[in-house]
Amino acid sequence: MKKKRKNKHKFRSTKKKSSKKLTMVLFITALLMTGLVVWVAINDWDVEKSFGEISIKLGLVENETVEPETEPEVEIPLDVEDNPEDLDEDLPGEEPVISDDDEDPEPSPVVDGGGYIEGQELPLQPTYIKNVLIANKTYPLPATFAPGESKEAREMFDKMAAEAALSGYKLTAFSTYRSFEYQTGLYKRYADKEGPEKADQYSARPGYSEHQTGLAFDIGEVNQEKIWLTAEFGESSAGKWLAENAHRYGFIMRYPLGKENITGYMYESWHFRYVGESIASEIYATKGTLEEYLES
Ligand code: DAL
Ligand code: ZN
Repeated sequence: MKKKRKNKHKFRSTKKKSSKKLTMVLFITALLMTGLVVWVAINDWDVEKSFGEISIKLGLVENETVEPETEPEVEIPLDVEDNPEDLDEDLPGEEPVISDDDEDPEPSPVVDGGGYIEGQELPLQPTYIKNVLIANKTYPLPATFAPGESKEAREMFDKMAAEAALSGYKLTAFSTYRSFEYQTGLYKRYADKEGPEKADQYSARPGYSEHQTGLAFDIGEVNQEKIWLTAEFGESSAGKWLAENAHRYGFIMRYPLGKENITGYMYESWHFRYVGESIASEIYATKGTLEEYLES
């Protein structure tokens, strides 16, 4: 009997516990439901928005990129507009095609203290740009290049000297064509005397002299030898006449004052280069240099 009562008591107690649990579950469910309704209400009753955001916040789904309303504008460079291949490379989302050139761009040449490209070797052929033979610190000549004095340039010089004589100026070309070997000795003498740094400002290293083209004429006035190869010649009446008239005969003052950084040499009032009347007149009119003309 005792045992029975005991069991009855046990049964009642279990029943009590179960109903407590049920109440608890109902209470939590009601709480969740209320929360849910409140959340949907906050989201303007937009069920998709509500659950989408909940999912993202809970990390249940990946956060999708929201598509912009319009396509992003792709800027097309004008110079590739006509070339679909080039254009493809610029479209977003594609791996750029890297050419060998891009991977290994040409390094800029290293220039030494004298304005020469370090390690440069003399070429096998002379360089012509715009049909003009060029000899400067960037474009040397082959050691074997030996055309002698240009007949055309000499002819034009003589005509010019004849006109200058009418004004009382007796012009002479005291140094014109110089061979590679001659320039080698000349440069060495200057370098030994004043040091290579100073010599590089007015004397070309062998292979780099315009005199080797046969088109460069060093001009002075007869009986005025003391001002040959000086800036003073440029200040003299004969030098001024030459500077103002040489272009009409196809000559340009090759190393003008103020253009040292472009030509690579100090002002040389006496060194003229034959380029022909048309080019000489253009360079004269623009107060430019041969380098600027050839790069334009
Ligand atoms: N005097 C010029 C630069 C030459 O040596 O060619
Ligand atoms: Zn010269």
